[in-house]
Amino acid sequence: MLTDPRSDCRLCPRLAGFRTENVRLFPDFHNAPVPSFGPADARLLVVGMAPGLKGANRTGRPFTGDYAGDLLYDTLKTFGFAAGDYGKRADDGLSLIDCRITNAVRCVPPQNKPIGAEVASCRPFLAATVEEMPRLKVIVALGSLAHGATLAALGRKKSSAKFGHNTEHGLGDGRVLIGSYHCSRYNTNTGRLTEQMFHDVFRRVRGVLDST
Ligand code: URA
Repeated sequence: MLTDPRSDCRLCPRLAGFRTENVRLFPDFHNAPVPSFGPADARLLVVGMAPGLKGANRTGRPFTGDYAGDLLYDTLKTFGFAAGDYGKRADDGLSLIDCRITNAVRCVPPQNKPIGAEVASCRPFLAATVEEMPRLKVIVALGSLAHGATLAALGRKKSSAKFGHNTEHGLGDGRVLIGSYHCSRYNTNTGRLTEQMFHDVFRRVRGVLDST
């Protein structure tokens, strides 16, 4: 199975239509499924929701240029999962260390909201991404949509691991799934997620990885 959709993927008619519209409106943007970023032999996989229109959909790298990327990349650097300067562009030279980032839905959705059918259509790519990570130990799911999509990609029921901020669920095979509120502008502006709370998640990840 492919780990990334083809650049002209049409599995989701609504997202393919939105892409066509964006190619016309923003011809300089990436405007295609955004591939995962980071090495396949990483022990940490961060799963986001979907690319932002003028962020990842523009730059072609997950969270890059999106508001959510500021806190994410800063936090990854703080906990030793990234090195270099995050310059909000795919060629900024930033590298991920023992960490990979992907999205549950690889194409930008209208109004930033993928629908259930799109999450389901993109699931095989998430499953294949997890599958090709032989050393994977920790998955951080950003938001409940990513949490549910990850469980589904792993072939588990949603009810097997309830989503919550900084909640950890053993997957029964030595791997763990940690939920986090999404580092979106909405969540940080409303105070639902603070920098401290986000750091707590990655401190936990570091602890899990350092103890294995
Ligand atoms: N950008 C991404 O790539 N993913 C998200 O979940 C949000 C912004």
